[in-house]
Amino acid sequence: MRILVAITGASGSLYAQRLLENLAPAGHELHVVLSQYAPAVIAEELPGGLRLPPGAITHDLQRLSVPFASGSNAPDAMVVIPCSMGTLGRIAHGYSENLLLRAADVVLKERKQLILVPRETPLSLVHVRNFELLLQAGATILPANPSFYSRPRSVAQVADTVVARVLDHLGVAHKLVARWQEERE
Ligand SMILES: Cc1cc2nc3c(=O)[nH]c(=O)nc-3n(C[C@H](O)[C@H](O)[C@H](O)COP(=O)(O)O)c2cc1C
Repeated sequence: MRILVAITGASGSLYAQRLLENLAPAGHELHVVLSQYAPAVIAEELPGGLRLPPGAITHDLQRLSVPFASGSNAPDAMVVIPCSMGTLGRIAHGYSENLLLRAADVVLKERKQLILVPRETPLSLVHVRNFELLLQAGATILPANPSFYSRPRSVAQVADTVVARVLDHLGVAHKLVARWQEERE
């Protein structure tokens, strides 16, 4: 699969880091784009910065001359993780003025898979209305709500309970977290 991972300035850079690490060995074509505010939050949250897996292709936010800016060459899937409410609202309303937003627009119109991972809490009616629009347009909203029944023992393992659900929705096999009623290792 050709997968575009977009990282925004919402809290939760670790989710993006763990997703990239778990997609890398799976042999997918991996593309990465950061929103304008993502680097500032990454600097706060990831000591040492974002580590890109070998082979990942990064893209300039302002450059639209890449394949998936056009519907004729859409990625198979796009994950916005973590997804700020600003970016989510812009996608919901069809703003397309940079590569991240245009790619999301393309993925929706071409009926490819768009997975949005917002972290925001609590939610306002504006957020919920935007969720509704995006769900109607075919996106998957997968909030960064960790689960605890796998008894995570580190922050990374807590993050993995969310990343595991993203991988499930992408159809990428993983053994990140024991499934409910499955043997714990
Ligand atoms: C430390 C930090 C954490 C933030 N966390 C969130 C968040 O969880 N959700 C959110 O919607 N915005 C959050 N923001 C605000 C966004 O970064 C801000 O709205 C920004 O303009 C989003 O731009 P972008 O969507 O282009 O990344 C946070 C900002 C900072 C500095």
